[in-house]
Order: sequence, then C-alpha cells, then structure tokens
Amino acid sequence: MSEIFVPREEIENQLSLADGLCGGKEKNVCILTFGCQQNEADSEILSGICERMGYGETDDPKNADLILINTCAIREHAELKALSRTGQFKKLKEQNRELLIGICGCMAEQKERREAVIKSYPYVDFVFGTDKLYMLPTIIKNALNAKKRRVYISEKPHNEFGIIAEGLPLRRNSDFKAKVSIMYGCDNFCTYCVVPYVRGRERSRCSADVLSEVESLVKNGYKDIMLLGQNVNSYKGDISFPELLRRCGSMDGEYFLRFMTSHPKDASRELVEVIRDVPNVAKQFHLPVQSGNNRVLSAMNRRYTREKYLEKAMEIKALVPDVTMTTDIICGFPTETEAEFLETVDIIKQVEFDMIFTFLYSPRPGTPAANMEDQIPHEEKVRRFELLSSVQNDIADKLNDKYIGKTVRVLCETNENGKCSGRTTGNKIVNFDGNARVGQFANVEITAAAAYILRGKETNQ
Ligand code: 5AD
Ligand code: SF4
Repeated sequence: MSEIFVPREEIENQLSLADGLCGGKEKNVCILTFGCQQNEADSEILSGICERMGYGETDDPKNADLILINTCAIREHAELKALSRTGQFKKLKEQNRELLIGICGCMAEQKERREAVIKSYPYVDFVFGTDKLYMLPTIIKNALNAKKRRVYISEKPHNEFGIIAEGLPLRRNSDFKAKVSIMYGCDNFCTYCVVPYVRGRERSRCSADVLSEVESLVKNGYKDIMLLGQNVNSYKGDISFPELLRRCGSMDGEYFLRFMTSHPKDASRELVEVIRDVPNVAKQFHLPVQSGNNRVLSAMNRRYTREKYLEKAMEIKALVPDVTMTTDIICGFPTETEAEFLETVDIIKQVEFDMIFTFLYSPRPGTPAANMEDQIPHEEKVRRFELLSSVQNDIADKLNDKYIGKTVRVLCETNENGKCSGRTTGNKIVNFDGNARVGQFANVEITAAAAYILRGKETNQ
C-alpha cells in the first residue's frame, strides 16, 4: 500500500528542480484539456507545477513556449479531437523551434495510440502517462537540455499500476469552484470501458489530506466543491465515503459539496442519508445506469440488475426531497436488440431523471466489448440516441415546471450587467436578473422554466 504513495523526498526533488527552471525568462504554458473532471483536476496540477517552473498561463497556443495536450481516451471522438488539435501545432513548431509540445493523459497510456502519435506527430517532444504528472520538472528539464524525444510511462502492467502523489502545487482555474480528487483509478472493468487500463488500480487518498484540502478551500471562499473519483463509493481511505462526505460537508460556512461518480452497486443507504441530512451536501445524485436491460447490464459487467437500480433510484428520490437525479446511458452496446433498448427507454421514464448523458457506444481497443460480435451500425446507434433524447426532453421539461413560483438558492457564476447565471444545490442552471456577486449566493424566484434552464429574478427573501 505505502509504495503507492510517491515518497516525499521524490516530490521535493521534483519541486526543487522546478524552482526557477525557466531561469527568470518570461514564458507561458498553454494546457489543452480533453475529457472528464479528473483530467481537468490533473491539468490544474500540471499548471501548478508549471507555475513553480516559472511559466505563466495562456489560452492561446500562439503565445505559448510550452503546449501540454491532456488527452482523453473514453470514446474515439475524444481521441480524434485531441489529435486534430495536435495537428494544428505543426506550423507553430516550424515558426518557433524553441516551442515544446507534450502529450499526456489517458491516450498516452495506450500503447498503440502512443506509438501512432509518436510516429505521426514528429514535432511532439515528449509523451507522459497519467502516473508521471509529478515528474513534469524532470520531463521539461530533459526536453530543454537534450533535444531528444522521450516517452515516460509506468513500466508496470495495467493490472498493477497506479500511484498517489501528494503535496504537488495547484493553479486552480476558478476562485469559487474547485475539484478535489479523493481517489484514482478503477477496478470495475466494465466491458466497454478503457478507464481501468489508462488510470490504473483503485487507490484512495488519506482522509486527513482530503479534509485539509477541503478545509482550506472553504476558508478561502470556495463555494462549489466537487469530490472526484471514478467510483467514489469504493473510497478506501481510513474512513468510509459517506463519513468523508459528512465531514467535508460539515465545515463552517455555506457551500455546495458535490461528488462524482458513483457506481450503483456500491451506493449505500448511509450515503443517501448523508445527502439528506448534511445541508452543505448538494441535493444531486449522478448514478450512471448505462442500460435498462438485465442481459445488457450483465454483458457490460455492471453487477446490478434493472430491479436493483430502480430500487436504489426510488430510495434516493423518496429520502431526499427535490433531489436532482442524472445518469449516463450508452446507446448501441454490441448485441443490444431493439427490445432491450426499449427497456432503457422505459427505465428513463420510470425514474424521471432531470438530465441524462447519452453516448454512442464507441469500441475501445483492448476492452472485451470491442471484440464482441454484433456491433451495432452507427446509424442505428444515432437513431436510439435521438429517441432517448426526445423522451428525456419531455421529462426534463415537466420536472422543471414545478420550480415556477419557488425561491431557490443560487451560486452566481457570471454577472454581465445584471444578467446573471448560476447553479442550484441540484446543479440546475438558473439565468436571472439581479446584482449578485460572482462566487456568492443569491435567492432567486423562478418565473419560467425550460427543460434544462430555469429563469428568474433575485429577491431579498
Ligand atoms: N463508449 C461510449 N460511452 C462510454 N462511456 C464509457 N465508455 C464508453 C464507450 N466505450 C460512457 C459511460 C460512462 C461515461 C463517463 O462515458 O456512460 O458512464
Ligand atoms: Fe477520459 Fe476516462 Fe481518462 Fe477521464 S478517466 S480523461 S473520461 S479516459
């Protein structure tokens, strides 16, 4: 277990190497992030380490001395987006030989992808895997000194790899919204999913480290804090996840404490009770169902049934009044028949989710589902996707109507001349007229509702 933690001296060595690596010259890093919140959190660490090295941050690759492309491998679409951006940097490299370009993140962990990137993009200077983030100072130093291309990947096989690096600097991209990783990796091996292969084994941070990070965020005025993990319910620090959530949500002050993501097989009643009982814990539950059919769920290796899922979802709705429920669905998993798909439509209708995230199944090399016979044609996946979306839009429309006339607490995220936008405890977007300060709470009376947006005006109530 202890070998999972990168030794303190190793982190300190990296940080002292980082100090002033740019030698006082004014340099900028541009970090492009694809994929999930975990990748966004990693990019904030990359940015923090870059800051220690002396890099400012820019959104414009043309102004950058260092470009880091933090990739995602969850679906082919995500991979293609990252590759197409990488392709655009060829010209920049030709114009500026000093420019350093690096690729990291989940795509870098896949051997075939990595090799293809190295071959097709000769101007990429280095590639590093999800486990090598903390080594960025070494990686940059090597790139600045020797003009040789290098690859930094964990040598362990996918059923062993995974580290935790504490004490790295962070440059957060908001001063009121923050993400806090509580665990990394995944051991579930759903048959469609690449995550266990690119993020390694499940491993948890110590609760003391998480609690002190959350405490300092709350003290510094952060109002929307998200605990992150591929499957937070299997958090295995020194306390359980519900207890961690309770403690993180019980600090002085008003804030929303969210978490992402849960696996339905592990979502306990205790967790639901914490959501109900701790005021700062957001009244929101994202519980990916993926399919509403038992045969498909079993082929996906999800390890729960439609009936168990429904029971859990209904328990959450019954125990937490006005909870917002969201889910993920995969359309066109190999072998999925029309009748099986219709059971997914049916579960959507029964639960009445506030929002669903629907994805076309994308075969991921190396995963069991990619080799299954009876892959569903693209057009059929799209047809199922569209049908689900239209059913869902009607449900969301109906659910949001009940907010009209109510006053809700909203964390203001933008305010342009009195036109404000923010989010509720249930993560609903609210556009409203008012003079709320960005990063502060406001009371908003809801006057109109559409499927995914509420409208209202600030009140003093
Ligand atoms: N194809 C399509 N969607 C996928 N997801 C994960 N793997 C795949 C894949 N191969 C979806 C799941 C998951 C969400 C983050 O992405 O619904 O919950
Ligand atoms: Fe994409 Fe999964 Fe990696 Fe997140 S963990 S960036 S979703 S592949």
